[in-house]
Amino acid sequence: MRIGFFDSGVGGATVLAKALGSMPEEDFLYYADTLHVPYGEKPKEEVRGHIFDAVAQMVDEGIKALVIACNTATSIAAKELRERYSFPIIGMEPAVKPAVMRTAGSEKRVLVFATSLTLKEAKFQQLVSAVDQRHIVDHLALPGLVELAERGIFSGPEAEGYLRRALAPFDLGRYGTAVLGCTHFPLFRPVFAELLPAGTDLIDGAEGTVRHLRATLEKAGLAGGGSGRLEFMSSGKSADTQAVFQAALHAAADMERQLRRP
Ligand code: DGL
Repeated sequence: MRIGFFDSGVGGATVLAKALGSMPEEDFLYYADTLHVPYGEKPKEEVRGHIFDAVAQMVDEGIKALVIACNTATSIAAKELRERYSFPIIGMEPAVKPAVMRTAGSEKRVLVFATSLTLKEAKFQQLVSAVDQRHIVDHLALPGLVELAERGIFSGPEAEGYLRRALAPFDLGRYGTAVLGCTHFPLFRPVFAELLPAGTDLIDGAEGTVRHLRATLEKAGLAGGGSGRLEFMSSGKSADTQAVFQAALHAAADMERQLRRP
């Protein structure tokens, strides 16, 4: 059986690309809830309903485990999904803890990028208060990047202009680490790298999530049995959806190769 990957849209491709690269013995089903993206700007109850509908469809298709490749959906629904379903469910949260650890011993601050909904949720507030004793964590929602990614735009003047304007109020030299706490954002890694001062670390949760997925499947005796096949499903039926997803997957895989280059 397949591993399900779920996101509001194409952002989860940044996590799937890592799994495809490192788990060739698995098959995957990716579900993009493109009819309801963006989640990050919608009321929590509405988003919760969309997530449960989407996951029910994936379960009907047959999955042996679920990766919620979306920080927003994880903070809204991971706990309740785990109560409803007995297969392993792997969620994601902004990598605040490793970011704070990296800045230990320096005067640098941490800037967390995520959706408005993720930042508003108690889960995020609790995470920050648990690890941010020095009060060095700031945050910023970037809904425009989700919207651009869903149009297949991951770079260029529109993305650069949006990000430049969003970052303008920040004294960027004060930050040592930036957290990409929404799975759409790593698609813009080169744009972030261009606009943030040289030497700023950019971290996301994809690698840790895939490591956790692999360990969980092995522990549950569910690993293997596939051959790297991937099926794509979406709630929105626009003709472009699949093409945008493929473009996101290629962009994510390219960046993955560049990051691995010594
Ligand atoms: N990709 C999602 C995340 O990781 C959410 C984007 C959205 O739908 O607003 O939070």
